[in-house]
Amino acid sequence: MATIEELAEEDAEEAAEATRDCMRDAWERWEKDYYPEEAMEFDLPRHSAEEYRKRIALPDAFIIVAKERGRIVGVCSGHVVGKGGVASLGWLGVAPESRKQGIGNQLLEAVEEHVKDRGCHKISVVTLPCLTDAVRLFFKRGWVPECNLTRHSWKVDFMVVSKWFD
Ligand SMILES: CC(C)(COP(=O)(O)OP(=O)(O)OC[C@H]1O[C@@H](n2cnc3c(N)ncnc32)[C@H](O)[C@@H]1OP(=O)(O)O)[C@@H](O)C(=O)NCCC(=O)NCCS
Repeated sequence: MATIEELAEEDAEEAAEATRDCMRDAWERWEKDYYPEEAMEFDLPRHSAEEYRKRIALPDAFIIVAKERGRIVGVCSGHVVGKGGVASLGWLGVAPESRKQGIGNQLLEAVEEHVKDRGCHKISVVTLPCLTDAVRLFFKRGWVPECNLTRHSWKVDFMVVSKWFD
């Protein structure tokens, strides 16, 4: 079992680097034939230590990390959207060598509790159908495909996957 906690400012650099590494790995492993490399490269700078520190200071944003032996092995982030009870998950990733041990599930569970505690009745993620391990994890936890976004960003099809709490 990993330790799950909200990101502390002093861990921002490590968490951002872990996310960028995970994004590059996911591109090589799952996205290569689906999502342009240029698109993935464009996404990387949103996961910098500076960005993470900014988000820690925002009341509606969350960054939750999983640690094993003091090292960050998983990161998920998102935000509560306004006051309407909806949350958006922006990223979920576990380091390749720490996958298939339940850490992704632990992170997702923590996110669901976090947003429920903030009054949310729904959470959604916009993701790529080629990220099959992630999609399977969402489905296992009761998230369902809500709609497709056809020829969306970078002319690629995305899917919106959501979970309702009541
Ligand atoms: C999606 C992702 C976060 C899942 O992380 P994870 O830590 O491997 O997730 P879990 O371990 O909870 O579950 C994954 C699998 O391991 C299995 N598992 C869990 N604990 C296990 C254990 N102790 N022993 C063996 N298998 C185990 C689960 O049953 C699940 O099996 P399945 O894939 O056959 O359904 C990870 O694959 C990842 O980082 N992918 C790239 C990033 C990505 O796609 N992000 C989504 C974009 S938002």
